[in-house]
Amino acid sequence: MTTPSPVTSRHARPAIISAHDVHKSYGTGQNRFDALTDVSLDIHEGQSLAIVGKSGSGKSTLMHVLALLDAPDSGSLILDGADTRDLRGKKLNRTRNKTFGFVFQQFFLTGSNTVLENVILPMKIAGIGRAERRRRGLAALAQLELDDKAKNKAVNLSGGQKQRAVIARALVNNPRIIFADEPTGNLDSNTGQTVEDILFTLNREHGITLIVVTHDEELAARCDRRIQIRDGRIVEDSDGEVAA
Ligand SMILES: Nc1ncnc2c1ncn2[C@@H]1O[C@H](COP(=O)(O)OP(=O)(O)O)[C@@H](O)[C@H]1O
Ligand SMILES: [Mg+2]
Repeated sequence: MTTPSPVTSRHARPAIISAHDVHKSYGTGQNRFDALTDVSLDIHEGQSLAIVGKSGSGKSTLMHVLALLDAPDSGSLILDGADTRDLRGKKLNRTRNKTFGFVFQQFFLTGSNTVLENVILPMKIAGIGRAERRRRGLAALAQLELDDKAKNKAVNLSGGQKQRAVIARALVNNPRIIFADEPTGNLDSNTGQTVEDILFTLNREHGITLIVVTHDEELAARCDRRIQIRDGRIVEDSDGEVAA
């Protein structure tokens, strides 16, 4: 036993995602690069988890594997008790779209579309009807205090407004997990703080599990749990022991 955790009930919750002995490499033969080695991790529902580590350490690769955007070469990924290897094609897309929200810099807003059009996209993919899409899209924008920008072209938003629109888009399907890759990376510190506060409100008040890759130690410190990746391995986990 280690020191009792102040929130022992957290561990009584089932894992929403479990990774077991995950390996992921890029390239083959001489060019093979092991981006993830022996990664095992249980993430509990409602937890906020920071993934930290140097550039190139494998943070984004881990995030992509956890979010079912990339399959591991070996090892398993269990979502809600079910092995995700059985998920393919449409079923995989639907599960990802229904369960996860993404705040990734590479998932840009389409600048020439309106803010509302951008935000309803995940509902289009999910096959939700037009009126319901509009209603939920506007509600998500209102939650992020962006409803007055619904009809504006996304290109005309400020950096912070864009990131709030991305968060609104991440919320429209009522996700259980939000994945955020450097969510404050391109923002000034005030705007970054606002975006951070929004993410933690969603975590604390709505119970959405938050998994965030960050270079920002202050943001990491606000999370329930911090794991550090080095050369594709978890070398530190504030929540428990790490295999030597
Ligand atoms: N598609 C790819 N092909 C080849 N190498 C890649 C690819 N994606 C990432 N890598 C390499 O894998 C390592 C981990 O990358 P990444 O997970 O993006 O790191 P981080 O997010 O921690 O900066 C890096 O060395 C990177 O160059
Ligand atoms: Mg990265």
